Amino acid sequence: MSNPIIITIDGFASTGKSTIAKKISSHLKYNYVDTGSIYRAITLLSIKNGFLESGSINLDLLKNSLDESSFFLNSETNKLYFNQSQLDDEIRSYEVSESVSLIAKISFVRSFVLEQLRSLKISKGLVIEGRDIGSVVFPNANFKFFFNASIETRVDRRWNEMIKKGIKISKNKIKENIITRDRTDEKRKLSPLIIPKDSIQIDTSNLTIEKVFDKIIELLN
Ligand code: DC
Repeated sequence: MSNPIIITIDGFASTGKSTIAKKISSHLKYNYVDTGSIYRAITLLSIKNGFLESGSINLDLLKNSLDESSFFLNSETNKLYFNQSQLDDEIRSYEVSESVSLIAKISFVRSFVLEQLRSLKISKGLVIEGRDIGSVVFPNANFKFFFNASIETRVDRRWNEMIKKGIKISKNKIKENIITRDRTDEKRKLSPLIIPKDSIQIDTSNLTIEKVFDKIIELLN
């Protein structure tokens, strides 16, 4: 399709971006991409292949591996594949969350992801969420949103998600991870987390999913 409608949602970790982006995309029958899952999949690959050990990364091995890698979006099912394997819940582990910001600040990783995202085959339109989507990946997007929420709300949301998946973890550990990740994402030199120009800011702390959804649909209309 030549000019699909692009809606971007950027923002801090656990502010509800994925939940809302999924809901909006299914309402509009658009494709949906969670770009954090791409950085997570690359982090998992690095852990599994030993490119990432105790916080240190073998850049040469990672680069060689990415040179032979690609992501694919099935535009019918909205499932993302990395080298033919569908992304699954393994990318959400605490181990991956702990290291993903380190991987996401590497220049060749960001160029690789940028190229992959810009070449995704999409049908009618796209709802895409992350940290640099409205600012760098699709600066000319039709609609841009930026989400924030209080740290307490974000910790509670992430903790509930983990508990539902049967993962036992303390709220303190989650808080520490979210704060460290925010800091790394905001301070990195390349495509840091910023509020994109022309974006609509939404604080989701005291809003239900339905309220945020309604607000966005109203704005889109
Ligand atoms: O959305 P998430 O928490 O699953 O994202 C995981 C990490 O990926 C996040 O801490 C930073 C990185 N990321 C990024 O650098 N740029 C994006 N567009 C999306 C995610």
